[in-house]
Amino acid sequence: MANIFLWIWAFFISFLFFALFFLYTLASGANADWQILNSAAANTGITIVILSLAIGSISYFFPSVAKYIKYRKELGITGFFIIIFHIFITLFYLQDRFPFPSSYLHGRPLISFSAALASVSILIIMTIISNSLAIKVLGKWWRRLLRVGYIAIVFALLHMTLREKADWDTYLQNLHGPPPLSIIILWFGIWIILLRICVYFMTRRTGTHT
Ligand code: HEM
Repeated sequence: MANIFLWIWAFFISFLFFALFFLYTLASGANADWQILNSAAANTGITIVILSLAIGSISYFFPSVAKYIKYRKELGITGFFIIIFHIFITLFYLQDRFPFPSSYLHGRPLISFSAALASVSILIIMTIISNSLAIKVLGKWWRRLLRVGYIAIVFALLHMTLREKADWDTYLQNLHGPPPLSIIILWFGIWIILLRICVYFMTRRTGTHT
């Protein structure tokens, strides 16, 4: 029963981020359409996955955050399915803007697409091994494998940066209105990766797990 509350909490937090990101993009002057929905979904998915991985590192510096570690799995899986929703909308409702596969197979979009595939493959593996049977079978390798999640984040940020760079350049030239959401997410992601690297070096000698 307690498990259900963890899921409800993860859905609720994800919905809050989704609503916030949707309204932020609307307030930036965009029209409410599939593209905004897709943008809100993609940014929510990556944020929730980053949060699920980062709770351990953040609680190293802020011990009061440790009480949220129990939500990690539910957050991670919820974030993963929101990203699947992003892929679904992109491929089925934004065909005009991003025809598949022709618009993915050359230059920058090809690198972005390869990074997206690498990221989603790692997230699929992490979702598959996020159950108690896998924890038993994999033993100490399970925790190590979960750290690979950070590589999924690096690939996801690369995918996002290559896709959004043109919008960022336009914004940086005019500096008009709020910055694109994806710039904020990139900053957030970079800080969380740096935090994880710090925690790695600080706990290496003591062997403490986060
Ligand atoms: C193979 C699967 C994927 C495809 C085909 C895909 C496709 C796209 C496309 C076409 C865009 C540009 C959207 C726009 O400018 O309106 C985009 C943006 C984005 N994608 Fe993906 N993506 C995939 C996987 C992923 C994954 C795995 C993640 C994260 C873990 C992700 C996160 C993002 C983010 C955060 C954005 C920026 C959205 C925005 O701010 O508008 N994508 N993706």
